[in-house]
Amino acid sequence: MVKKFFTVITHVLLCGYCYAQQDSIPQINGPRLFGARPDKVFIYPVPVSGAQPILMAAKGLPSTVQFDAHTGIITGKIHTAGTYPIKLTAKNKFGKTTRVFSLVIGPRLALTPPMGWSSWYSYGRNVTQKQIELTAKLMKEKGLQQLGWSLLELDDPWANQPVKNNPVWTELKTQPDNKVYRYYEGPDNLTTRQGAPRDGSGNIVPNSFFPDMKGMTETLHRQGFKAGIYSSPGPLTCGGAAGSYQHELLDAKYWSDMGFDYLKYDWCSYGAFAKDTSRAEYMKPYKIMAGALHQQQRDIIFSLCQYGMGNVWEWGNEAGGQLWRTEQDIRDNWSSIHNAMKKLADKAAYVKPGNWNDPDILQIGTIGGNDEDGKKRVNHLSAEEQKTHFSMWCMLSAPLLIGANMEYIDDATLRLLKNKEMITVDQDALGKAAKRLKLMDNQLEVWQKPMEDGSFIIALLNASDNTIASNINILNFELPLLPVTITDLWTKQPIRFPEGDISISIPSHGVMILKCNLSK
Ligand code: GLA
Repeated sequence: MVKKFFTVITHVLLCGYCYAQQDSIPQINGPRLFGARPDKVFIYPVPVSGAQPILMAAKGLPSTVQFDAHTGIITGKIHTAGTYPIKLTAKNKFGKTTRVFSLVIGPRLALTPPMGWSSWYSYGRNVTQKQIELTAKLMKEKGLQQLGWSLLELDDPWANQPVKNNPVWTELKTQPDNKVYRYYEGPDNLTTRQGAPRDGSGNIVPNSFFPDMKGMTETLHRQGFKAGIYSSPGPLTCGGAAGSYQHELLDAKYWSDMGFDYLKYDWCSYGAFAKDTSRAEYMKPYKIMAGALHQQQRDIIFSLCQYGMGNVWEWGNEAGGQLWRTEQDIRDNWSSIHNAMKKLADKAAYVKPGNWNDPDILQIGTIGGNDEDGKKRVNHLSAEEQKTHFSMWCMLSAPLLIGANMEYIDDATLRLLKNKEMITVDQDALGKAAKRLKLMDNQLEVWQKPMEDGSFIIALLNASDNTIASNINILNFELPLLPVTITDLWTKQPIRFPEGDISISIPSHGVMILKCNLSK
């Protein structure tokens, strides 16, 4: 008995040791592939976790591409379209890992959903270059960049706001009302961010809180981040800063020259110039900017933001976008996030590599902190709801942009965002979104997402206000073959299903995520 006790204790201690060591061995994270266009400059920071220092190597890269063995950053351009398998190796004092990864050179960008952070929900109208650089530092320190959270999107407002007597304000007011959505704030809401919107050559002018745009993107790139920027097809952004109307080519060139890798293009004041709500009118400004981006030297991922008007999921790809907002701005309450996911219950068909439905920025962790009112806001979603929110965005293959302020991020939020199993669900190279199969009488929702490895991920979502404790039969999962194993992705425990029945107990607004491996 005593001997058995000691054997168990030794085993536990040894396993604790081997897990700690496992964590320290380098792990090459991120999706299986990355897309870039022929002859366009791109940056791909290979996400690697593990104890530093880590030394990396990459075999198979064309000579026009550079690889930094210390940071894992791949940059350069490739002339010939095709798939380039790259053998990546990462080693440190604990061991060595190898992974084959593909660079896919062709017309498509964003072969997996963009992942990173947006300034909008944490810094709002007060965003500064210093905060963006601080966020990069914090995301690295907290180990998020190492898991693929590598896009930092600078949202509104970074450009000067035209002063009150600039003709743009009256011009916008006097446009006929064609009953098309328009929104902009101002003229005097950004008093510390005012000035000439354009210089003598027509170039857009950043406000004084962004003294060195190029320096900022270089800092981000050096630390393994891609840089994102924001504008509007109208003359004013939603916050009332300068937009790109009639300066599309100049602005696209400016962003490319400054080193930006991603553009969020927000409808806002453009509604004053759209003739009507026809599809052609909705597409027009996006096609213009897509054309302007195509002419640049860098690859710039194009994110359409017009809140889902005119069924954008049906034409966002044709308008040149890689992702498109399907929603108005979401908020940190259950009905907002549940409505956003329900809207996508039947829109999986529009999702594929390079085409993503975007139900908006993640409402996870402490949002606010230095926004308009300067208040750190308590997130109104419960811990359970935040877990569901994150899980369902991964099921939907949604772009994952963190809305939380990194200065106040807590351990529970970090645990959510660092869940490798869920990130893998989102970043799966098959690029299929979940669809909702069933809505049961007790408000249990069954969602199903196919994966590249032939498995299926099932989400059991309890949309009711009570715990659901019952059995569910796997026939409800509509799998093409019977599963041989089922694993709960959050608890990492195997699930038993005698005669196909799984016993569940899911709290209100909670979710269970099951990976079903099928017999081959
Ligand atoms: C709109 C967008 C938001 C954000 C703000 C910035 O509301 O939907 O995501 O970009 O504008 O002003």
